[in-house]
Amino acid sequence: MWSDITEVPHVRIGQEADLVVVAPATADLLARAATGQADDLLTNVLLTARCPVVMAPAMHTEMYEHPATQANISTLTERGVHVVPPASGRLTGRDSGPGRLPEPEQLFEICRRELERSGAAAPAPPAARGALAGRRVVVSAGGTREPLDPVRFLGNRSSGKQGYALARVAAARGAEVVLVTTSGLEVPAGVRAVPVETALQMESAVRAEAAEADVVVMAAAVADFRPAAYTGHKIKKTHGVGADGSADESAPAVALVRNPDILAGLVAARGGSGSPVVVGFAAETGDADGSVLEHGRAKLARKGCDVLVVNEVGADLTFGKDENTVHVLRRGSEAVLDVGPATKDAVAAAVWDVVTDLL
Ligand code: CTP
Repeated sequence: MWSDITEVPHVRIGQEADLVVVAPATADLLARAATGQADDLLTNVLLTARCPVVMAPAMHTEMYEHPATQANISTLTERGVHVVPPASGRLTGRDSGPGRLPEPEQLFEICRRELERSGAAAPAPPAARGALAGRRVVVSAGGTREPLDPVRFLGNRSSGKQGYALARVAAARGAEVVLVTTSGLEVPAGVRAVPVETALQMESAVRAEAAEADVVVMAAAVADFRPAAYTGHKIKKTHGVGADGSADESAPAVALVRNPDILAGLVAARGGSGSPVVVGFAAETGDADGSVLEHGRAKLARKGCDVLVVNEVGADLTFGKDENTVHVLRRGSEAVLDVGPATKDAVAAAVWDVVTDLL
C-alpha cells in the first residue's frame, strides 16, 4: 500500500504526536472513537496515539445529553481521554444550552496543562513550578461601576486583563485562586470567580475572602467616589421644574461621596500580623508634582502594602492592551524591578516571583 514503509503516514502522525486535540468533537466522532473505528485519518491517529488526548464535544444540547453520547463520553474518559465539558450558551441555530465549544483560551490552557503533566511541554522554571501550591490567593480585577440610575454608571477604562493574568498564573503555579471581578472576561480554568459591580460590593467580597488568604492582590481599578444618591428611575433630560414652572433643562449636578479604600483597609485589618501579603497596583501618569515612579513610592508609603506594581497609564497605554510595562516596588527596599513591555501573563509571573519570595 505504501511505497516507503518506514513512513506510514496514518500511523506515524499518532505515534509522533505529543498531544491530540479534537475540537470540536462531534457526536459522531465521539461514537466512532469510543468503538475504536479507524475508517479515516483522524480515527487512525486516535488509535495509534499514546500521548494525552483532549476532546471538546460541541453539538446541540439534545445530542450531547443523549444517553448514547453520554455513554461514549464515559467510555472515552475511562480510557484516559480528557473530555472537556462543553460551555453553555448560544448554539449554531436559535437554541441555546450546553453544547457550545469552550473558548479557545480555555482549551489552550487545558492543553498546556496536559502537555506539562505528560512532560512533553517545556517545564516551568523550577523556581516557579508549584511555587504557590497550598497557598490561597485573592485577586481583584476590573473597574468598578458606580450606578447613577438603572441605565447609567460611573466607570473607568480598566479591562481586567492584568487581574485575570494574575489569577491564571497563580492557578498554574498551584494556588487556590479566588477572583473578585467586575469583568466579563472568560474565567481562567481552576479559578473561582466572585462577580461584583460596585466598590462597596468588592470591599465586602474581598474582605470575606481575605480572611482565609495568604495573599491579596488588588489589581482592580476601584472608583474612589460614587454618586451620593442612586435614582431609582432613569434620569430624564428635563429632570425637574424651573422657578417659573417650566421644564428645567439645565444639567443636573451629581454629588459624589468617597468610597472606602479597600487596600488600606486590608493593611489596617491585618495589624501587625503581616498576613496576608498585600499587593497594590498603581495606575500613574507623571505630572508637575513628580514622575510616575515618585508617585508610586509615595503611594506605597501611604498605603502600607508589601508590594506596589506601578504602571504608567495614558490614552494609548495599558488599558485593554495585552502588553504592559510596570515597575515593581517593595516596602522597605530601594530596589525597583522593571518589567516589560511584556505580556500581562509575563508581568503576572514577575509579580508572583516577588510575592513568592515574601511568602
Ligand atoms: N484601591 C482600593 N480602594 C480604593 C481605591 C484604590 O483598594 N477605593 C486600590 C487599587 O486596587 C490599587 C491601589 O489601591 O491596588 C491604588 O489605586 P489608585 O487608584 O492608584 O490609588 P488611590 O489611592 O486612589 O490614589 P490616587 O489619588 O492616585 O487615585
